[in-house]
Amino acid sequence: MPSRNACGVLLGACLLVFSLLDLSTADGDYSELCRLFKNGTNIRKPGTCNEYIHCSDGEGILKFCEGSTPHYDRSSQKCVKEVSNSHLYCGNRCEGRNGTWVSDPTECQRYFYCNEGVPLEGTCPMGQHFDETSQACLHRVDSHCVDVANICEILPDKTKFRYEDDCDYYYECKSLKQTLNKCSTTKSKLYFNVETGSCMARNLVACTAHSKSGVCSATSSLVYKSDGATCRGYFGCKPFGTVADLDPIWGQCAEGLFFDEKRQICAKATDVVCTHNRCEGRGTMLVASSRNYCHNYIECVDGVEVAEHTCHFDHFFDEVIQACSSKIIYDNCCDEQE
Ligand SMILES: *[C@@H]1O[C@H](CO)[C@@H](O)[C@H](O)[C@H]1NC(C)=O
Ligand SMILES: *[C@@H]1O[C@H](CO)[C@@H](O)[C@H](O)[C@H]1NC(C)=O
Repeated sequence: MPSRNACGVLLGACLLVFSLLDLSTADGDYSELCRLFKNGTNIRKPGTCNEYIHCSDGEGILKFCEGSTPHYDRSSQKCVKEVSNSHLYCGNRCEGRNGTWVSDPTECQRYFYCNEGVPLEGTCPMGQHFDETSQACLHRVDSHCVDVANICEILPDKTKFRYEDDCDYYYECKSLKQTLNKCSTTKSKLYFNVETGSCMARNLVACTAHSKSGVCSATSSLVYKSDGATCRGYFGCKPFGTVADLDPIWGQCAEGLFFDEKRQICAKATDVVCTHNRCEGRGTMLVASSRNYCHNYIECVDGVEVAEHTCHFDHFFDEVIQACSSKIIYDNCCDEQE
């Protein structure tokens, strides 16, 4: 339960509350926040009515509404003359509160202490996050990052954004609350693509948190399993005997090598049959496909598959010359297996 003593639970923080009273120009680093959203998203800055964070190429830029349109409207993501509900959503999060702490939705480490409605900004000690429920700074392992606490109050309704622990999931704002949704169905394994706001085949999405669900089965020796999304990535399933490892560690083969589940090794990309993302770690180039008996090749842009093409019927793709050739070379990677 919350401690009434500002210097009890929040000992380190209490000192900061009284030393960080500069509330006007706390221009934070918003890249942590912007990483969750589609490029170009505007997010109202919490605690203000006229400031917003513009996310562009992963950076957050703080902007102001001025002149004849002094208010920021989270729904239209624009500066407007008037906002409805300004008292509720635009006022500071401390309004009507005294002696309690509220989180700063833009940053896990920060919070506001409410002193008779006035927000006093503070920061948790390094490695800790502010947790509004327990009114305390918690170590990261104990607190699920509260970046997204109340975040839908500052975003347009229906905004879909990344869930950072598993690419199979995403958040969606509905009636000012975020809901967690799953992409995959029993029939198809999908990942959320934040740029299109939709669920897609896993080989088409750049992902940094591959889904661990259903990867491992019970085993009595260490077994490596494909991550089911990329050709380089695998999970190591620990030998727990009669129960499956639910939290396998993800790893990946060195660039240019692919994981071969049958042989349990990393091998030359062109020696491995794999229909997951063959572009990951390979930048922008053309690579051989495992489909269509070596006649197909895949166009990679920044490590993501963008298109698959077919060579002339009596030609085969050659990665070295980056073109179709009359010789077949990669007979190990292209015996189609689906
Ligand atoms: C992101 O959006 C900005 C404009 O807001 C645009 O200039 C930029 O090219 C976009 N970046 C990508 C990777 O699409
Ligand atoms: C706010 O809390 C402080 C400390 O708990 C107390 O002294 C003060 O009277 C409270 N103010 C109001 C308006 O309740």
